[in-house]
Amino acid sequence: MSSSPAELHYNGQVYPLPLLVGTENEPAVDISKLRDDTGLVTLDIGYKNTGATKSAITFIDGDAGILSYRGYPIEQLAANSSFMEVSYLLLYGELPTMSQLETFNHSITHRTLVHENIKKFLDAYPASTHPMGVLMSTIASLSSFYPNSLIANRPMADMDRTYHRLIAKMATIAAWTYKKSLGHPYMYPNNKLDYVSNFLQMMFGHRTEDYIADPVVVDALNKLLILHADHEQNCSASTVRMVGSSHANIYAAVAAGVGALWGPLHGGANQAVIEMLEQIRADGGQVSKFVAKAKDKNDPFRLMGFGHRVYKNFDPRARIIKEACDQVLNKLGVNDPVLDIAKQLETTALQDDYFIERKLYPNVDFYSGIIYRAIGIPTDMFTVMFALGRLPGWIAQWKEMRELNEPIGRPRQVYVGHPRRDYLPITKR
Ligand code: ACO
Repeated sequence: MSSSPAELHYNGQVYPLPLLVGTENEPAVDISKLRDDTGLVTLDIGYKNTGATKSAITFIDGDAGILSYRGYPIEQLAANSSFMEVSYLLLYGELPTMSQLETFNHSITHRTLVHENIKKFLDAYPASTHPMGVLMSTIASLSSFYPNSLIANRPMADMDRTYHRLIAKMATIAAWTYKKSLGHPYMYPNNKLDYVSNFLQMMFGHRTEDYIADPVVVDALNKLLILHADHEQNCSASTVRMVGSSHANIYAAVAAGVGALWGPLHGGANQAVIEMLEQIRADGGQVSKFVAKAKDKNDPFRLMGFGHRVYKNFDPRARIIKEACDQVLNKLGVNDPVLDIAKQLETTALQDDYFIERKLYPNVDFYSGIIYRAIGIPTDMFTVMFALGRLPGWIAQWKEMRELNEPIGRPRQVYVGHPRRDYLPITKR
């Protein structure tokens, strides 16, 4: 912390404000003592400009389109590493050595089975259920099977098994929610397979035949999971940290994160993008009509997959995904008419003053759905795929928050309701 050139002039007094500079030279004003010193609170609805923590996990420079995990640029990780390697990096802060990765993989692979009673829960949901609801409640219910996780002040050193268990079981639960929606028998994990191939065989395999995942699909899915693995203090990560800050168990915190991710303004956007593209196609493919609707302030329609709270020039993940999308469709020989509409929409919006002025660019969700479709994942499973990718990030955020012994999250407010008034008996109102 440096001595402060920032100061607040208020009520004829000058209050120095401590200044903090992050490792990428991002300056911040520390206002944590502001209320004690001045009686003031700050107001920042939607936390558009509020740093909620000091974090060493992920760095984003939204203006320059930079994203890195633990200092490593996302482009290098997406091109060269695996989802398991990135998960290790997020959780433990360093890239694993060969033997560390083997131990990590082994620990996860051998925890992929879920308790047989979980199948009974899954069986009880109606077939029309949304898989995110099933995922959320199943993750929360894992706490019932691992009562140790309820011990609030459990030593952090004992938590590794729980982190690995969550990563392992999430893939099984996610795949089983899909099997449930089809009414097909659940596929058990295969310990001989890597994480992504195992997930694919649980999604698409049948008991009567050996399923071998296409390496193109395995590679594309690894990339997608890596790109989604963390994104600093976004809505769902902040939710995980907030719930965890009350010392609720990690299953409860992650389940809450799944709930936050579900919304169409966050992870649910990937499902909403495909539904929007289908809607445009069904309507005759008039892209300009929908761009006009998105610009009309009296119309609630928004271009899903456009805009981002932090990225104001481009989303680096969208660039990588767009390229991967073309590769996957070419290699698999898929000709998706929805992709043509997506490309037309992108070109039209990027030349339109409304989108230029507001710095609205395609985000990660704009193209991810097209890849998911190409590899056979149904639309309502897209946000589950996002959750699968984001899980190591949520765990890393929870772990960091608890290791730093952060206080309970509890924002202030500015009350604008009725001033004090006296109760009137019902006969006198
Ligand atoms: N289509 C049309 N107009 C838009 C869009 C859009 N997709 N996004 C923002 N705008 C407009 C707003 O109407 C507003 O216009 P105004 O200044 O004239 O009032 C302006 O751009 C700023 O938008 P805000 O909503 O204030 O920006 P905010 O940072 O709060 O929201 C968000 C960001 C939620 C991502 C928003 O851009 C959006 O709703 N996008 C569509 C949903 C989406 O793709 N979400 C996924 C985000 S990525 C992720 O979570 C993985």
